[in-house]
Amino acid sequence: MSSTVKVVVTGAAGQIAYSLIPRLVDGRTFGDKKVDLSLVEIPQVVDKLEGLVMELEDSYFPNMGNVSYTSNFEEAAKDGDWFLLVGSIPRGIVYNGKKIEERSDLLSINGGIFVDQGSAIGKYGKEEAKILVVGNPANTNALIGKNAANNNSQLWMAMTMLDSNRAKSIIAKKTNIDISEIANMIIWGNHSPTMYPDAENVIIKGELGNTVLEDQDWIDSVFIPSVQQRGKAVIDARGASSATSAAKAAIDTVMACEHPSSSNDCFSAAISSDGSYDVQEGLICGFPLMRLDDGTIEIKRDLALSDYARKKIKISIDELLSEREAVKHLMK
Ligand code: NAD
Ligand code: LMR
Repeated sequence: MSSTVKVVVTGAAGQIAYSLIPRLVDGRTFGDKKVDLSLVEIPQVVDKLEGLVMELEDSYFPNMGNVSYTSNFEEAAKDGDWFLLVGSIPRGIVYNGKKIEERSDLLSINGGIFVDQGSAIGKYGKEEAKILVVGNPANTNALIGKNAANNNSQLWMAMTMLDSNRAKSIIAKKTNIDISEIANMIIWGNHSPTMYPDAENVIIKGELGNTVLEDQDWIDSVFIPSVQQRGKAVIDARGASSATSAAKAAIDTVMACEHPSSSNDCFSAAISSDGSYDVQEGLICGFPLMRLDDGTIEIKRDLALSDYARKKIKISIDELLSEREAVKHLMK
């Protein structure tokens, strides 16, 4: 074993976590590193985690290190290298007598969670810790958390990898090309129905999407809305929000950050804008990202955006701005 990584997972008794946690210790996500797990739940259900810990022990994962669980986030956060912030309310359930239909309904319910968690991560998490917000509305929750953490050495991300995986899957079916041959699948903007899955810069078997996918009508009326609405379609079909695919996407994001990106690829996650592609600084926006050899994560800056793409991205940026306005009372 080369070293140890400490991973903190919130919402650890929830449905995404049940698929996610075993994969963190299976020896593939973090290679030969030993993985310490710190699992967090709300006080009402934290005791259930004893059962999950029993199952993890019974699975005998050679790379599993110390496993602990708690409802005290500050205690859990100490020396965390990775924070997977899943804990929050999903769509599709009834909350306080109201059916939660849109991700924006979650803004007022979940936003507050990320003030205290962000502040604890800033204080107790490791310098250069990486934080992946899965709980919705993921971008704005990450904005709240990053603001509360006030620690610029740490990298806050919101998950858009699931959208990128969905987009690849749709393109693979349409073109009859194996999904492993689809690269550079970027999701711009918010993880919401305004996101812009980029069919122009995607690389399909070595060719740019805008030369392979010539059917603009299909892009407008099938591809983009299918990616944007896939979360809802899963909720409608399953009666619960996507879980196993969300867990896989979280693992894909961690792996993309742990291993250098190849020069003709990038991965999708939302991070704080530095003004690239004219996105307002500080917004947590979906970008094409590269993991460099020295371990840093950077926005891939040399992509061409058509007027069509810029218009679509602006819709999502405007939504992020209005979400930021709605949570300004939670920001310092
Ligand atoms: P779930 O209800 O099964 O589990 C959520 C868990 O979080 C619950 O066990 C709950 O007790 C716990 N929790 C709530 N507040 C917490 C807190 N303050 N600290 C720690 N734990 C807390 O829900 P799920 O299906 O696992 O989904 C979790 C979230 O992920 C939802 O907000 C959902 O919308 C979101 N999601 C995001 C994506 C994405 O692509 N970004 C994909 C799927 C789901
Ligand atoms: C998804 O995209 O599947 C999740 O964000 C869940 C949701 O509410 O859509």
